[in-house]
Amino acid sequence: MIESGSRTDRRERRGVTPGPGAGTALWPDPPMRGILLAGGTGSRLWPVTKAISKQLVPVFDKPMIFYPLSTLISIGIREILVITTPGDRDAFVRLLGDGSQWGLRLEYAVQPRPEGIAQAFLIGEEFLGGRSSALILGDNLFHGVDLGRWSRPGAGVVGGHIFAWPVPNPSAYAVVEFDDAGRVLSIEEKPSRPRSRYAVPGLYFYDSTVVEVARGLRPSARGELEITAVNDHYLRQRRLGVTVLDRGSVWLDTGTVADMARANEYVRVVEERQGCKIGCVEEAAWRAGLISDAELRELARPLFSSGYGEYLLGLLG
Ligand code: G1P
Repeated sequence: MIESGSRTDRRERRGVTPGPGAGTALWPDPPMRGILLAGGTGSRLWPVTKAISKQLVPVFDKPMIFYPLSTLISIGIREILVITTPGDRDAFVRLLGDGSQWGLRLEYAVQPRPEGIAQAFLIGEEFLGGRSSALILGDNLFHGVDLGRWSRPGAGVVGGHIFAWPVPNPSAYAVVEFDDAGRVLSIEEKPSRPRSRYAVPGLYFYDSTVVEVARGLRPSARGELEITAVNDHYLRQRRLGVTVLDRGSVWLDTGTVADMARANEYVRVVEERQGCKIGCVEEAAWRAGLISDAELRELARPLFSSGYGEYLLGLLG
């Protein structure tokens, strides 16, 4: 059961945590496009993900893909390419449709084999149409991260921009090494001896040159076009920005069964105690001014038996 605050609380909440703002052009023209990568075999979660895409598995009260999708919406991205495996495409279309119900434009493409994150730019070349892009991994969950602040107009991406966050198990990720002045010295993919505790979360911003960079990559030893090789390219060109996420930010990935359990528990505890949902696509779209109060009410209608619809109506006060 989700707790809900008083009517005043709800209105205040809307004021305190606004999205980027209705009608605000966050990015210089033409606006940035998003890629949401939801491919892969999810083998680290088998048998759970043997017959269902990992990104459709629930994290507490909603499918995993809702979390990164909400993140893209809150950043101000409206046109998004969802990349899935060939077998899972239809299920994603059933869940998300063309996005128009949330004021988005969603397109779909498939990645036939798990040949690396950077392949997303080759698959998405036509969709990107020479624009800058944000790539988010479908199994990454961000909460309390003020990405909107970073992505204000004028902060346009030159080269690439990534993030870093200290974790207890850096070997499971790409790891950024900083010097004493905070300059980036190196980025390594899943190093056995990490040079720092700073992992790179699965959210990346690039200018339009990223397609060319991806085209120039050779598969790594594990046979993948590595996103870390893209970032390393921009680093060597001195065109890579790295922002260490604020201490109050939370980044969770859901690679293993233990990660999944942690993410479930995190979302459950925060939602129950705060009375606010995390990763609620409908709410993100409404806060961003993409849908009206009446449209939110309409979206809530079929969602009553789970309590999700009640929550959406509660937002309207
Ligand atoms: C991928 C990337 C890694 C990044 C991580 C973030 O790893 O290869 O650089 O730090 O996502 O979730 P994966 O978890 O897909 O193995």
